[in-house]
Amino acid sequence: MISRLRQQLRQFPDMLLQSNVWRSVFRQGYPDNDENRSLVVMNSVFLHFHPVKVKTNTLRPAYTLGLGIISLFLFLILIFTGGVLTFLYLPTTEQAYIFIQELHTSVPFGALLRNAHRWAAHLMVLSVFLHMMRVFYTGGYKHPREFNWVIGVILLVITFLLSFTGYLLPWDQLSFWAITVGTNIAGYTPFMGAEVRALLLGSTTVGGEALLRFYVLHLVLLPALLIILLGVHFWRIRKDGGLSAPLHAEEVEK
Ligand code: HEM
Repeated sequence: MISRLRQQLRQFPDMLLQSNVWRSVFRQGYPDNDENRSLVVMNSVFLHFHPVKVKTNTLRPAYTLGLGIISLFLFLILIFTGGVLTFLYLPTTEQAYIFIQELHTSVPFGALLRNAHRWAAHLMVLSVFLHMMRVFYTGGYKHPREFNWVIGVILLVITFLLSFTGYLLPWDQLSFWAITVGTNIAGYTPFMGAEVRALLLGSTTVGGEALLRFYVLHLVLLPALLIILLGVHFWRIRKDGGLSAPLHAEEVEK
């Protein structure tokens, strides 16, 4: 009796693997060989974010310093805190500054929310820049990753633009004069300076039109562009064969 029970228990994993219910969820067999181990990753919506194989050198924290992931997490914090701020903010010259005051005085956790958004923005500029330095230092921009480097440069520019457009939104003295100086610099663009400045401001001076333009750029256009290009950035990392590795590391892997 006991020996029959033992035998049935031993057969249980096999029976489970054979069952239709199990197979409808997990399409591959037990991951005890390379093929099944790869299929486990490829067939799962959660695991497929990870590559099936990674180079050992890229697992060392000192190789990437995690700067790309840190940039991504800061961006997620910005989306969350910015999303909550959107429920309260009005992009008009009469309301914008009052909103900032109220955020500090009468909105529960308002100051925390605002400062989390500001600090994450400053840190993201820093981490994206350091990430670019790391990629340059480890030669990650070389063949076949040139295209991803170009996508990265655009991501850096968008990060700067997000920071710049967000600066005007509090509508205080600092914002007003920073954007006056910034758009005056844009006015020195060769051949079409006046047009670029007028396009940014929607007028000849920094006013309500500029506030609305910067608001739309900051909340809709630039984040949408950043999200799309981040998708391309991550997809390209996978298609370029994972992260870069020093030449000798490829030999060691073999
Ligand atoms: C919003 C900004 C960015 C985010 C969230 C981001 C995210 C990432 C992540 C998560 C990785 C994987 C490796 C790592 O963690 O370091 C990576 C790799 C890479 N990134 Fe970025 N990145 C951004 C901006 C940039 C910029 C500004 C450049 C260069 C101008 C760049 C070029 C690259 C390249 C070439 C790789 C592959 C590196 C290698 O194979 O060693 N990225 N990025």
